[in-house]
Amino acid sequence: MRTIRLMFVAALAASTVVACGGSKKATTAPVAEKSLFDRLGGKDAITTVVDMFVANIAADARINARFTNADIPGLKGKMVDQICAATGGPCKYEGKDMKTAHTGMKLTEEEFSATVEDLTKALNDAKVGDKEKNELLGALGGMKADIVGQ
Ligand code: HEM
Repeated sequence: MRTIRLMFVAALAASTVVACGGSKKATTAPVAEKSLFDRLGGKDAITTVVDMFVANIAADARINARFTNADIPGLKGKMVDQICAATGGPCKYEGKDMKTAHTGMKLTEEEFSATVEDLTKALNDAKVGDKEKNELLGALGGMKADIVGQ
């Protein structure tokens, strides 16, 4: 029994040396970064940001007329699911793709920029960190070609 235990300890020691490669650096193994969804604070935090974003749009004379006939609660819910899904969260976005949703609106670059400004203000007011803010804005910025000029 004692021999078996000693062999086990020896094997464990050997594997530790191999695993650590004998270097101090290897003891601080890199921790996988959390998803953007988690870093934003999950679905509740995203819902708060979307509420603030839509309030900013409603107060923005440059674009609010575009939303006169919109189903605001429905739009908010879809935006939350879209951001949740796009950032690695456990949601499924079941709305239209961005091209279909905005076709016929002939949205301009200026209107797109105003919308991004309103979202940026919401992210700032919700105290979202710069890194997370820029990652989210980058992801949504990639949708611009499907939204503007359709
Ligand atoms: C990154 C930018 C944008 C994102 C992520 C976005 C996202 C969305 C989503 C998820 C929907 C719902 C689609 C559906 O009904 O299935 C939608 C619809 C809509 N979007 Fe956008 N959008 C963006 C830019 C804009 C801009 C710049 C405007 C106008 C200034 C705009 C005006 C609208 C309107 C009027 C609707 C229809 C709402 C309704 O009929 O209830 N969007 N958008």
